[in-house]
Amino acid sequence: MFRDKTCGELRLSDAGTSVTLAGWVQRARKMGGMTFVDMRDRYGVTQVVFNNETDAALCEMANKLGREFVIQVTGDVAERSSKNMNIPTGEIEIIARKLVILNRSDVPPFTIEDDTDGGDDIRMKYRYLDLRRPAIRRNLELRHKMAFEIRRYLDEKGFIEVETPVLIKSTPEGARDFVVPSRMNPGEFYALPQSPQTFKQLLMVSGFDRYFQIVKCFRDEDLRADRQPEFTQIDCEMSFVEQEDVLQMFEGLVKHIFRYVKDIDFTEAFPRMTWADAMKYYGCDKPDTRFEMKFVEIKDLTVGKGFAVLDDAEYVGAICAKGCADYTRKQLDQLTDFVKRPQIGAKGLMWVKLEQDGSIKSSVSKFYSEEELRVWADRCQAEAGDLILILCGETMKTRKQLCELRLEMGSRLGLRDPQKFSCLWVVDFPLFEWDEETQRFYAMHHPFTSPNPEDFDKLDTATGEVRATAYDMIVNGNELGGGSIRIHDAALQDKMFRLLGLSEADAQYKFGFLMDAFKYGAPPHGGLAFGFDRFVSILAGLDSIRDVIAFPKNNSGRDVMIDAPSTIDQAQLDELALALVPVTKE
Ligand code: AMO
Repeated sequence: MFRDKTCGELRLSDAGTSVTLAGWVQRARKMGGMTFVDMRDRYGVTQVVFNNETDAALCEMANKLGREFVIQVTGDVAERSSKNMNIPTGEIEIIARKLVILNRSDVPPFTIEDDTDGGDDIRMKYRYLDLRRPAIRRNLELRHKMAFEIRRYLDEKGFIEVETPVLIKSTPEGARDFVVPSRMNPGEFYALPQSPQTFKQLLMVSGFDRYFQIVKCFRDEDLRADRQPEFTQIDCEMSFVEQEDVLQMFEGLVKHIFRYVKDIDFTEAFPRMTWADAMKYYGCDKPDTRFEMKFVEIKDLTVGKGFAVLDDAEYVGAICAKGCADYTRKQLDQLTDFVKRPQIGAKGLMWVKLEQDGSIKSSVSKFYSEEELRVWADRCQAEAGDLILILCGETMKTRKQLCELRLEMGSRLGLRDPQKFSCLWVVDFPLFEWDEETQRFYAMHHPFTSPNPEDFDKLDTATGEVRATAYDMIVNGNELGGGSIRIHDAALQDKMFRLLGLSEADAQYKFGFLMDAFKYGAPPHGGLAFGFDRFVSILAGLDSIRDVIAFPKNNSGRDVMIDAPSTIDQAQLDELALALVPVTKE
């Protein structure tokens, strides 16, 4: 072994002992006749001292150390005169007796510290250096701990981890597939799985009963902070279960993780909200319930007073921002600009202020009397000092806009603390989503989701109103996971494909294997998948999942470190029987 202690473990109680450490030079500084070297490894940082008076040659060698050199130091642990109580090893230092340079380093392109001077692009190019930074390392340690606890919980509950193939058949439904050409079958392609959905259902047909897999999934979709082209799911499936069984089991998993990883005990059952209520009160299917500020509908109070904007609106919704009546004109203009941004798309913002002195001010006071505005305020449960913000327009669009405004106000008011966790289930999703552009229904979750048995009779008559037996787990406004009870009956699955506009031949071509399997005694089954990267980033209090993935892609889907994707040579193309058409890059 190159070392007998790590750079993170020595304490005052070790003073007087002789140790050997190995690690990287974080920083070296010369002060008078002494040279101080901060030495780093995975476990922490320890200060090493070289004294010119006692060993000039050794000190000279230390003076030549560059950042990120790999060194081995032997010396004695001593109490520090000026202690650094910000780090666990801050009460001691090593008085060096021996120094070995194990490897040299070029000057790193950015400082390897939590507060690095490196921008995003450079850190990604040199990701192996970025991963030396404690903040990133801690995220990966958290990820490991979570994976371990997930396996422990699921194992204790009788789940077994089964691997499913990565080269599968292309059946694009939600996102685009990544495809892989087959050399042995020219002109044919595999696809990388968007999830192991059909395989886990087949495992239920095989009688595995309780399956899970921490598994890579691949989706060629537009990337965002919480989306990567390859990401990891905690994928689970159970047989002989109803929705309630699945919710109980996986609420248990989430609670287990919070308990053993974050030391947070959720003693109460997670709240459940119907999709319809989530849309009505929060304007989205993943409400951030760390704070209230629910939508209040006031259309009936605003109509008929000669204000065309509100008279003509299908929907008028308000939120009450507590204690914000002192918002200045400038602040209100900023909020108006916020909702008018093209990504949000509102035409304008109306407001009512309940001043501390009891008076009322409003951007629409020309059209509404003080008494009328007071009725609005009462419905919004507004009190003196509060600000009511109002948007109007087409119902679903306006709800989405109001959702963005609510989140913005939540952030401004400090109500979205990343270290506070609010979990809930959203249930009763619609089974279908209508797409105006293609004039057809799409499965809101996926085509294997069972309709709510209470709505079976609406499948043909009121297709858009049919509810699914589907559920999402939401944490702090993020969709952590989702799943459903599946269709296990070949005839119903066939009908579902038909409603989704898949011809019998199409359905047979894409999913024939599944429908065939269902003919051989498929048990009732259901499950869900959590986004593992999202789960880790939420627990780490981060906005982006990139920092919890060792080697992530950037927003254009590139790995800038290995420079992928990249072209392949003609011989490879020939072997795959592929010809490229010229493309002009934008
Ligand atoms: P779904 O498509 O909802 O369900 O995915 C499950 C969870 O995976 C995470 N997720 C992602 N994370 C990072 N990057 C992405 N591009 C990405 N896409 C999804 C989300 C999401 O909630 N087979 C079904 C599950 C089931 O029905 O059992 C499925 O894949 O956190």
